[in-house]
Amino acid sequence: MSEELIPETPEQETEENEAAEAIKQRKNGLYPAVSDELAENMKSGWADTELHDLQPIPQAEHTANRRAALSARFPGERLVIPAGNLRTRSNDTEYAFRASTEYAYLTGDQTQDGVLVLEPTGGTGHEATLYLLPRSNRENGEFWLDGQGELWVGRRNSLTEAEQLLGIPAKDVRELPAALAEATGPVRNVRGHDASIEAALTDKVTAERDEELRVYLSEARLVKDAFEIAELQKACDATARGFEDVVKSLDKAEATSERFIEGTFFLRARIEGNDIGYGSICAAGPHATTLHWVRNDGAVRAGELLLLDAGVETNDLYTADVTRTLPINGTFSPLQRKIYDAVYEAQEAGIAAVKPGAAYRDFHDAAQRVLAEKLVEWGLLGDLSVEKVLELGLQRRWTLHGTGHMLGMDVHDCAAARTETYVDGTLEPGVCLTVEPGLYFQADDLTVPEEYRGIGVRIEDDILVTEDGNRNLSDSLPRRADEVEAWMARLKG
Ligand code: GLY
Ligand code: MN
Ligand code: MN
Repeated sequence: MSEELIPETPEQETEENEAAEAIKQRKNGLYPAVSDELAENMKSGWADTELHDLQPIPQAEHTANRRAALSARFPGERLVIPAGNLRTRSNDTEYAFRASTEYAYLTGDQTQDGVLVLEPTGGTGHEATLYLLPRSNRENGEFWLDGQGELWVGRRNSLTEAEQLLGIPAKDVRELPAALAEATGPVRNVRGHDASIEAALTDKVTAERDEELRVYLSEARLVKDAFEIAELQKACDATARGFEDVVKSLDKAEATSERFIEGTFFLRARIEGNDIGYGSICAAGPHATTLHWVRNDGAVRAGELLLLDAGVETNDLYTADVTRTLPINGTFSPLQRKIYDAVYEAQEAGIAAVKPGAAYRDFHDAAQRVLAEKLVEWGLLGDLSVEKVLELGLQRRWTLHGTGHMLGMDVHDCAAARTETYVDGTLEPGVCLTVEPGLYFQADDLTVPEEYRGIGVRIEDDILVTEDGNRNLSDSLPRRADEVEAWMARLKG
């Protein structure tokens, strides 16, 4: 910022100079010099665009419940939950911002640099405050001279608008470091999102207590509320349309590469949602045996399989996680189908084991048993019994990964939950998880017949535990081999 833009009238001096100094520091003094006349000109002539009587976002009632539960868990303690900051890609170019899951879950907001603070109110309750950057200052030039000024990055909500939309009192985030510095009593912070908040709290928090907060916020998300379930359904439905888009354009992928599949799915994710929920795995031919194949730069060939593992993330940040393994030419070969059917059978067994009261591990065990039976039946494990194979875990050379995981705002949701509440836990209505068995025969695996090598199959669906069993949120996509073929034939025309 150039010196000319700093107002010199005494009554404005302190406040405006502080704001100007903050901007200057952020931009490392790189504002271009402008004339006094232009600086003066840019201050005025702008309409008042404040919006009034805004209705709360649909999620507001749910985020209030989530904050109430958090408040009850940590009485008398100040809780600090940051959204996170922009990350620089190069110079003045940033990566796309994605608010921290914890912050979005508790506020419904996704604003960079936002911080939710729950301040204890004497006895047991808390008062929530959302610290946000307000509308850009037009007097000191911030709105057009700062790289994060609204003229560059778009209009923000005013603090009053944010309060109405989110149902949480809002304050200027630039007041937060001072407020935290003055704070007394126990404080907990969700780490890993905002270095400046962590710096302000260094002397007030401990790693152990912060970890308890992170664990709580992971475990709170194990059971989804009605809003979250609707979002996950929305994510699955958009994802199904993305898979249809891919099938319709397979000829173009054959003419180019796996990139065409990645781009086609991404288009759907951006049209219907916020983003993809994780890097799409667009694995044709032998790439299907690489579990996290996200380079997506290989050839797409008729006669081979395409393993597509992709999910749309909704605008409120809930993601699907779906895999289909498709014959690129529309018809499974007999061997492809044999392997596909085995994985399908394993998935059916896994899905059947998802119900209230079941152990979390049950669906994995059920699917692994089916896969072990098939591998033994095919003679790939000598004359070992299925029981012995399972005891020694020998099937894992080809099954490779766990059969599923919790799903929600993060693709691998609730990852900080304790073993006793997650892996050793019991399923209950509202839990949502993936069931995704697979068989993968690496191209260089000399222990299997040559014709198996380079074949990888996974089928993955998103399963909600209900009162009386489960619901497959992604069942609008066919899974049985003959249904997959019929669906592809219809879409390819
Ligand atoms: N897409 C990653 C997974 O299936 O877990
Ligand atoms: Mn998954
Ligand atoms: Mn997946």
